Amino acid sequence: MNTAILLGAPGAGKGTVAALIEEQTSYVQLSTGDMLRECIAQQSPLGKQAKECMDRGELVPDDVVVDMISARMANGSADDSYLLDGFPRTEQQAVKLDAVLAKTYGSAVCAVFFMDVSESTVVERISGRRVCPKCGAVYHIAFVPTAVEGICDHCGSSVIQRTDDHEETVLNRLRVYHDQTAALVNYYRNKQVLVEIDASGTVAENARQILEKL
Ligand code: AP5
Repeated sequence: MNTAILLGAPGAGKGTVAALIEEQTSYVQLSTGDMLRECIAQQSPLGKQAKECMDRGELVPDDVVVDMISARMANGSADDSYLLDGFPRTEQQAVKLDAVLAKTYGSAVCAVFFMDVSESTVVERISGRRVCPKCGAVYHIAFVPTAVEGICDHCGSSVIQRTDDHEETVLNRLRVYHDQTAALVNYYRNKQVLVEIDASGTVAENARQILEKL
């Protein structure tokens, strides 16, 4: 099993670039944020628990996300290639991922792309983000606009702002990123799988840098 990871602050552009890479390669995007939002939409018990954490801009407990992603990967085969987006987010999650890959597939994480962007870019990207509540497509009012203002290009639904994209929650998500996730840069650097990407350019430029190394 090939497992690569996109690591970076909220709004760095992980989900956007992962979707593009999925279109162009055999890598399958696995986004824990998207999976949790699906659980919320289904109003499952896990979704209710996750919503409380996500609305505060805090992380969902490690065991919950590790079980969720392990179950998803267990449906695949040893030949699959996964691009993890938004997971792992704590050292405990990273250690558990290493253990699952080693025990179940005899493999390890092959590359971790750290999408490095300034805090002002992240805030600019998040504040203009709009998403389709029906098909999950992601837009930006200035950088990735819909063809018709406010309407999803793919399914025609009205696009909305994510509930955790309001200013106060965003500030907390950034604090949580610095406190709990940023240390993973060194975790993976020490394992010699870290690839640093200057993610301040266009979506296509970011994708090109990653595709060159995948
Ligand atoms: P999640 O959905 O993963 O949010 P995130 O990591 O905070 O990342 P974002 O989705 O905000 O940003 P992104 O980097 O994907 O950027 P995007 O491509 O959309 O998680 C949400 C919540 O779920 C968490 O807060 C937590 O509660 C919980 N959770 C998830 N995973 C968890 C885990 N492992 N453990 C515990 N809890 C977990 O781009 C942003 C905007 O910029 C878009 O508008 C896009 O169009 C635009 N854009 C993208 N690239 C560019 C570019 N190059 N130039 C200009 N604009 C761009």
